Amino acid sequence: FFFFCWPGHGRGGSAHVRMEMDGPKRTIAKPWRWILALLATCWGATWTHATWQGHVGADGSELARWLDELGQVSDAHTPGAVTRLVFTPSDVRAREYVTGKMVEAGMKVRADKIGNLFGRWEGRDKKAPSILTGSHCDAIPLSGRFDGVVGVLGGIAAVKALKKSGFQPQRSIEVMMFTSEEPSRFGLSCSGSRAMAGVLHEDTVAALRDENDTTYLEAASAAGYGAKTIKQMLDDARVKENTYEAFVELHIEQGPILEQQGINIGAVRAIAAPAALRVRFHGGGGHAGALLMHYRNDAALAGAELALATERAALRTGAEDTVATVGVFRIQPDAVNSVPREALLEIDVRDIDGPRRDEVVAEILSAAESIAATRKVKMEYEMINQDPPATCGQHVVDAVTSSAKELGYSVKSMVSRAYHDSLFMAKIAPTAMIFIPCRDGVSHRPDEFASPEDLKRGVETLALTMAKLSVHGYTEEAKEEL
Ligand code: GLV
Ligand code: MN
Ligand code: MN
Repeated sequence: FFFFCWPGHGRGGSAHVRMEMDGPKRTIAKPWRWILALLATCWGATWTHATWQGHVGADGSELARWLDELGQVSDAHTPGAVTRLVFTPSDVRAREYVTGKMVEAGMKVRADKIGNLFGRWEGRDKKAPSILTGSHCDAIPLSGRFDGVVGVLGGIAAVKALKKSGFQPQRSIEVMMFTSEEPSRFGLSCSGSRAMAGVLHEDTVAALRDENDTTYLEAASAAGYGAKTIKQMLDDARVKENTYEAFVELHIEQGPILEQQGINIGAVRAIAAPAALRVRFHGGGGHAGALLMHYRNDAALAGAELALATERAALRTGAEDTVATVGVFRIQPDAVNSVPREALLEIDVRDIDGPRRDEVVAEILSAAESIAATRKVKMEYEMINQDPPATCGQHVVDAVTSSAKELGYSVKSMVSRAYHDSLFMAKIAPTAMIFIPCRDGVSHRPDEFASPEDLKRGVETLALTMAKLSVHGYTEEAKEEL
């Protein structure tokens, strides 16, 4: 009652939520609203900002249980590890699990043709651009249960918490699961969010193959998505202008800073620029016993030199923010008594400074050329992706920061060194991320862990952030016209 009648706040947000917003405000409150509000206060229904916060109580243990359950949906043979590649049967089962939780939370579920999954909680203003949150549930081989999944199931938990608090969204709130944030199956990261942002091109998708030579479209269709053509699939996924007012992604930090500094929440202001390239060296191969050393052109040794050159190139910038990794190194024929004929390397290079990252990429490529010349092997390469860094939307970052503070949580402005779908969502709508600590900063490993208390803090911060954004910019008059 108090919530409804307090002047300037009314439907769709707590008193404080309205005060924090910098959109157009009503200047003169109707006198009857002031009287009602005072009456309500005296009556004792003190729906102040503080009590509303108390209502945004997330259940960290329930979310931890969901994460455990979804963690069982895996193709990893190692106990405790998760392997869930896009469009495989385990990914499809994860989608069913997420859909079930969305439905339980009272959300309307739909999927686009690339397999991005959306659950919608309709706001009062059905036509207004909505507030979107979400992350991914695909998992690289032998990883953990928290990367990405926290942002999907945590988004649903945030909606549950908001509903329980009695909050009514003004703009609709949507929770989503992106298709294939991880590059593990097709080599390309973030295909779902790239498609939403309209930066995934037909010929790029046409060239994608998994290790069994299955095409992306075949795999998507087998999982129940896809379309007749790649173009139709991409057109369907592309987001129209003004669909989303803001995007916020909850994620584990995947680094040690929050835990080491004893900070509850990271408010991400920028996301580092990722690049990935694939290099192949082709040599002559031969018999490991019979082929004398000076006759060889060993592709694996060319690869080994390139791996070391990659490390040198990253270190040469002198910047802590430059990192480069040879994460894939395969040789053929991979037999102990055979001189390697082919080496395939996939190299990941990142920096928060895009041009500096590009210099490192160029240095690695020029090293590959000179190694190939010296070792008399053939070299070919392809750039898999070379994305610019993303800067977050200031008012979304501010909403995260103020929400954390109001909830009594310590908060730190941060940069994300890992990439996320947020990198591409930032092209569609003002975007920010919420980081929570993870044990020892560990990620992409089976022992990845975030405590139920940290999960709770992350979900509550996400819930309050979405509540604020959902009422952002509404005047009382505009609301009354709805
Ligand atoms: C995401 O998984 C990344 O590699 O940053
Ligand atoms: Mn990951
Ligand atoms: Mn992730």
